[in-house]
Amino acid sequence: MLSKKRPIATLSPEERLLSLTYGSRSFSREIPRFEIPMEGVPAEAAYRLITDELNLDGNPALNLATFVTTWMEPEAERLIGSTLNKNLVDQEEYPQTGVIQERVVNMLSRLFHAPKGEGGIGTATVGSSEAIMLALLAHKTRWKKERLARGLPADRPNIIASSGVHVVWEKFARYFEVELRLLPMGGERFTLDPEAVEKAVDERTICVGAILGSTYTGHLDPVEEIDRVLSRVREKKGWEIPIHVDGASGGFVLPFLEPDLRWDFRLPHVRSINVSGHKYGLVYPGIGWLLFREEGDLPEELVFRVNYLGGEEATYTLNFSRGSSMMLAQYYMLLRLGVEGYRRIHATSKANARFLVEGLALDPRFRVVGPADHLPIVTFEVASGTGFSASELSEKIRERGWIIPAYTLPPDLIERSVLRVVVKENFSRDMADILLADIDRAAGSLSGRALTGHRVRGRHGVC
Ligand SMILES: Cc1ncc(COP(=O)(O)O)c(C=O)c1O
Repeated sequence: MLSKKRPIATLSPEERLLSLTYGSRSFSREIPRFEIPMEGVPAEAAYRLITDELNLDGNPALNLATFVTTWMEPEAERLIGSTLNKNLVDQEEYPQTGVIQERVVNMLSRLFHAPKGEGGIGTATVGSSEAIMLALLAHKTRWKKERLARGLPADRPNIIASSGVHVVWEKFARYFEVELRLLPMGGERFTLDPEAVEKAVDERTICVGAILGSTYTGHLDPVEEIDRVLSRVREKKGWEIPIHVDGASGGFVLPFLEPDLRWDFRLPHVRSINVSGHKYGLVYPGIGWLLFREEGDLPEELVFRVNYLGGEEATYTLNFSRGSSMMLAQYYMLLRLGVEGYRRIHATSKANARFLVEGLALDPRFRVVGPADHLPIVTFEVASGTGFSASELSEKIRERGWIIPAYTLPPDLIERSVLRVVVKENFSRDMADILLADIDRAAGSLSGRALTGHRVRGRHGVC
């Protein structure tokens, strides 16, 4: 018989075979919450305790709230698993990993039409947030340097963007002491108004932020028009104001689905772009990219050179150590899919998003706000008089496992609440069909009326 008191390490192989994970003491003890336990538990028990608890989380496959990738193929997961122990910053020790990072920077730089030079200028980051911080810091530094060189005051810098910016822009403004001038959206315009940009810029504007697409509704800021406005400003006032494009989600979709849309380095004022590899770059969380148009856009004093890892290494990141798996997984995806693969996957997601839009548009209880014209992002609101709110609908469909957030639009449109569905590659037409039926069922039950079934299709229909 197995003694309950004997530590697992002293058990014979036979005894270990017989010891039950779920029958062990680890499962009848309280879980440590505040202090590190004095004694450990067997590996299998620790694994089970944690994974069982995590079953209470939502199901990533039904998480339509996140922009972030929730599925990768087994070979990609194998690559990720086999490279977890490599620190990306250790490029002296892992030179080939460094070479691969440069290759991805080059590929994205070409994808975004940077002038062809000796190589792309940019870096891997943890996500778009770090990339945006680094880009805006570069613009601030460059602006300050130029002002001081001309003997002008370099205080009170500002950034112009729409009120639909992601919170990271506000974080940057507060952390790095820059005024963020957010131009209001209004009516049915959910993007930056180029004319308002022209009025808002001044000699202290370090850059204009353009979003592709908006976290709130998926709409694209009109980058080409903003670029034209800034050319006019340069002619009239002599101010050279760059654009930073926040392509967190669109940067990995538009080049494949709408290659002729001009929003990137083809426009002269676009000097930097961020994109999340872990969104439509189709990699698990932990990878973003920052690209500069050319070397002069990244002030050299921001690049640090360290030699305590062996050879000299140049870094422009906020964090020093970080995993290399997701960066390598990005390279895997670029090789694996190629341009045609990305195009096909995103075209399918967009077609499924449009299918949802069409289903919702047929239902008078809903109004589509973001119709997935460019990106596979659908936003809709609940029509007045339906007897339920967007957040009630969000909670109701959560009962089926769907995670679809309801939130209010930015301050100028705060009275409007929307629900957002981010369609990703693992959301099939079949899933879209089921979701429409579930929304119909949830709305019917919330309004206390008989189920209409008027737009329910196929075998999943409520009957
Ligand atoms: C427009 C936009 N910018 C920035 C971010 C932040 O990106 P990340 O989560 O990669 O840091 C997001 C995230 O959703 C976003 O939608």
